[in-house]
Amino acid sequence: MKAVVCTALGEPPQLQVREWPSRPPGPGEIRVALHAGGVNFGDLLVTAGRYQVKLAPPFVLGTEGAGVVAECGAGVRRFVEGDRVLVQNNDVRGCFADEVTLPAARAVLVPAGIRLVDIAGFPLNFGTSYYALLHRARLVKGEVLAVHGASGGVGLAAVKLGKMMGATVIATGSDDVKLRAVKAEGADYVVNARTELLAERIRELTDGRGADVSFDPVGGDVFDAAMRSTAIDGRLLVVGFAGGRIPAAPANKVLFGALSVVGAPYGGFTQRNPERWAELMTTLLEHVRSGVLKPLIHRRFTFEQASDALTMVRERQVIGKCILMSARGVAET
Ligand SMILES: NC(=O)c1ccc[n+]([C@@H]2O[C@H](COP(=O)([O-])OP(=O)(O)OC[C@H]3O[C@@H](n4cnc5c(N)ncnc54)[C@H](OP(=O)(O)O)[C@@H]3O)[C@@H](O)[C@H]2O)c1
Repeated sequence: MKAVVCTALGEPPQLQVREWPSRPPGPGEIRVALHAGGVNFGDLLVTAGRYQVKLAPPFVLGTEGAGVVAECGAGVRRFVEGDRVLVQNNDVRGCFADEVTLPAARAVLVPAGIRLVDIAGFPLNFGTSYYALLHRARLVKGEVLAVHGASGGVGLAAVKLGKMMGATVIATGSDDVKLRAVKAEGADYVVNARTELLAERIRELTDGRGADVSFDPVGGDVFDAAMRSTAIDGRLLVVGFAGGRIPAAPANKVLFGALSVVGAPYGGFTQRNPERWAELMTTLLEHVRSGVLKPLIHRRFTFEQASDALTMVRERQVIGKCILMSARGVAET
């Protein structure tokens, strides 16, 4: 089969489309013929050797994807050949390929009516943001949610999920063009951190209170501003560090602000709780089927264009998500 293989770590890494052995499923595993995979910020970290789980080249990239079950291993009851599935394969990766073999517990059925090339980049962003907002911050209807890095993969998912959950959403970023797109996707307010005072503007928009929940995938100065613009009794979600600097939360501010600084490690959650992950993903997919949630795909690439796709993520040119298609995916579009 064909696969996008990282042959040398780096920034940028060396990627090649080459033949890669297909693996028959072992007990409890399925082999999935993939249509597409989602391109993630984490792919930059993995290929730079900066991800918490280190992979040694050569390895096949891609954490998530969508395809059709081609073969079931012994003991697999939940799927049969021909089922359309969404998969998430955090540590092993391997989804930028014609096929992936993985535990059946890391797959869920895709409802009829949703194209596989439209949903392949869904699990990581929407899963992370829903886990963070629902399970970790317990966001409820009527609250104010501030989403930082709102034009990115997890950020835009948080904007859409926040609206679905009945929150007023303040979306922040550093590019007016991208922020206009985020507003068009449903944010109530947008704030440009490059041209406005982030914490002050969020306080102004909330009559001085601050946001009930702050969602931060950026870190650094953005986290510091989120500390100053989260309401008393509010929750500050630590989601990621796209900005590069891992910030620190001063304990005096946590104490006197009655703040909860809450980690949202989605990868660990999915690995520890595969059944809860499958439930969460199935719920989210039902919202996509009914039209309540509409994932935004910025651009679809072929395997041969994998370097271009990663470059777009590195250069912060993506709004929402990019997708990498196999030949099956190209035929589906
Ligand atoms: N907790 C989890 O389980 C989990 C799951 C998935 C991802 N993450 C993490 O969440 C973070 C964001 O992931 P993502 O997929 O949303 O990434 P993304 O699509 O590349 O978006 C990142 C956003 O952060 C903003 N940003 C600010 N400073 C940046 C910088 N120096 N470089 C890049 N972006 C910068 C950008 O918005 P502007 O250009 O408007 O500033 C961009 O839209 C990453 O650190 C990722 O590892 C965590």
